[in-house]
Amino acid sequence: MEITTVKTQAFADQRPGTSGLRKKVKVFQQAHYLENFVQAVFDAIPDRAGKTLVLGGDGRYYNREAIQTIIKMAVANGWGELLIGRHGLFSTPAVSHVIRYYRARGGLILSASHNPAGPEHDFGIKFNGENGGPASESLTEQIWAGSKAINSYRIAQTEYIDLDHEQELQLGNTRIRIIDPVRDYADLMERIFDFPALSRLLQGSFRMRFDALHAITGPYAQEILERRLGAPAGTVQNAIPLPDFGGGHPDPNLVYAKPLADLLFSEQAPDFGAASDGDGDRNMILGRGVFVTPSDSLAVLTAQARCIPAYANGLHGVARSMPTSQAADVVAKALGIEYFETPTGWKFFGNLLDAGRITFCGEESFGTGSDHVREKDGLWAVLAWLSVLAHSGQSVREILDAHWQRFGRHYYTRHDYEELPSEVAEKMLAGLQAQLPVLPGQQLAGREVQVADDFSYTDPIDGSVSEHQGLRILFADGARLIFRLSGTGTTGATLRIYHEAYETNPEQFHRDPQRYLASLVTLGKDLTRLESLSGRKAPTVIT
Ligand code: G6P
Ligand code: ZN
Repeated sequence: MEITTVKTQAFADQRPGTSGLRKKVKVFQQAHYLENFVQAVFDAIPDRAGKTLVLGGDGRYYNREAIQTIIKMAVANGWGELLIGRHGLFSTPAVSHVIRYYRARGGLILSASHNPAGPEHDFGIKFNGENGGPASESLTEQIWAGSKAINSYRIAQTEYIDLDHEQELQLGNTRIRIIDPVRDYADLMERIFDFPALSRLLQGSFRMRFDALHAITGPYAQEILERRLGAPAGTVQNAIPLPDFGGGHPDPNLVYAKPLADLLFSEQAPDFGAASDGDGDRNMILGRGVFVTPSDSLAVLTAQARCIPAYANGLHGVARSMPTSQAADVVAKALGIEYFETPTGWKFFGNLLDAGRITFCGEESFGTGSDHVREKDGLWAVLAWLSVLAHSGQSVREILDAHWQRFGRHYYTRHDYEELPSEVAEKMLAGLQAQLPVLPGQQLAGREVQVADDFSYTDPIDGSVSEHQGLRILFADGARLIFRLSGTGTTGATLRIYHEAYETNPEQFHRDPQRYLASLVTLGKDLTRLESLSGRKAPTVIT
C-alpha cells in the first residue's frame, strides 16, 4: 500500500460551525480543500491508530466522491477499521447509534443537514466522538487551529471502493466493512418502542403520511413503518434519497414541507403527518388540521414518556436549548424531575445525557431526542408520537388540548431574516446589546422587563463556559424575546427572533400564534431597528 504525503496550503475558512464545516460544493471541490479538513480532524484524534471510524452521509451530491477520498486518507492515517453505510448512506442518528453500538472511536457524517443539495448548493462534514455525539467546542476549535497550520496531508493510493454491496475487505492495515445503514438503527427502535402496539395502530384504520423529502430518512422510514410495522405501502412518500433531494429544501417545517402541511390541513387529511430533514435528525409533527411546535412536542413527550417501554420508569430529567419555549420546564416541575437550559446546538446536551442527568432533550429547530443516541432523531420522535397516539387512543389535537389544559400553553413563533449582509446583522445585534443594561424595569409591549442579557452557559458537568449564545429579554409574566444569529447558514447572515408568551386561561388557548404574539413581534423589530437598518419589512421564514 503506497502512502503519499501531499504538500498543501492552509485555507483560512475551515472553522466548523454549529454542526461541522458547511460550505458550497464548489468550495469543497477546490483542490486539497476536503483533504485539508479531514487531515485536521484526524490530527485532532491522536489515539486513532487501530480504532474504528464510522463513515457515511445523507446521499447528497459529492457524498460518494468525498467518501472515496476519506477512505484513502483514513487508511493512510492508521485507522484500524472503517464502517461505511451501503451506497455511502447513513442518517445522522444512525451514525450516532452505530458509533456507540460498535464502540467506534468516532464517525464522519457527510451532510449539510437541511440545506439544499446539488452542484450549486451545500455540502458538509462533521465529526462525532465516541459517545456518538457532535464534537465538543474545544475539539472543533482544535480542528480549526489545525486546519490553519496544515502544510501536508497523508493519502493512500488505492483503487475505487465499491460502496454498493455489503462486503469486507482489507486495505493495508485497515479493515473496510460496508454495512447495511438501516438494520442496526431499526433494531434499536424495536428495542425502545412497543412494536406490536404500533403495528396494531398502523394496520388498523389509522392513516399517516411520512414525507422523507427525497433525503436520507426514506430507507429508514420504509423499513420501520412499512416493512416492520406493516403500515400500508405509500405511507412513506418521496422515499428515495436523491443527490439533489429532488430540487427541494429538506427542512421539515411548514414552509419547506408545504405539500405535507397542505395535506394535513385539507379535507382528505390523514390522522397524522410527519417529515424529517436531509440527514434525518429533525422532525415535524402534524395532526389533522394541527401543527405541533417542536417546543410543545418536547413537552408533550416528556409528560407522556411512560407509555414507551424504554422510558416506563420515568425520565431522569429534560433539557431544552435556550430559545426553545419553556413548555418542557413546566412539565418537568410538575413531574419533579430536573430540567436544564442549554445554548443552541445538540452538542450541549451530550454531557447531561452521558452523566444520566437527562433522558429527553429538544430544540425549537425541529429537534427532539433521548439518551438512546447523542443526536436528535427524527424517526424516533415520530415513533414516540405514534406511541402516545396508540396508547391514548386520542388524536393529536386532543393530546395537545389536554396538555394545555393541564400545563398552560406557550405561544411561540420564530421569525427568520435570511441572507442579510453580515455587517447589517451584526449592527442590529450590537445596537440591541448596547440597550440591554437599561431595559430591566421598563414596560415594553405592555410587559415588564425582568432580565435583559447575553446568554452564557456553564456546563453543570465539566464547568466549561460558553458565552454570547443569544440576547434575551425576559418579562415578568414569563414571556420572552430572544435574538441570535444562525450558526448554520452558508450565505450572509440569518437573524432569528424568537417570541414566546405563556397563557393559562383556557379561553385563550386557540388563538392564532402570530396574532397572539403580534406586540412582541413588533417590539423585536423595533429594538433591532430592523426595517431601517436592513430594509426588510417581513421575515423570510416563520416557524
Ligand atoms: C443544527 C444543530 C441544532 C441546532 C441548529 C441551530 O441543526 O444540529 O442542534 O439547533 O443547527 O441552527 P441555527 O441555524 O439556528 O444556528
Ligand atoms: Zn439535520
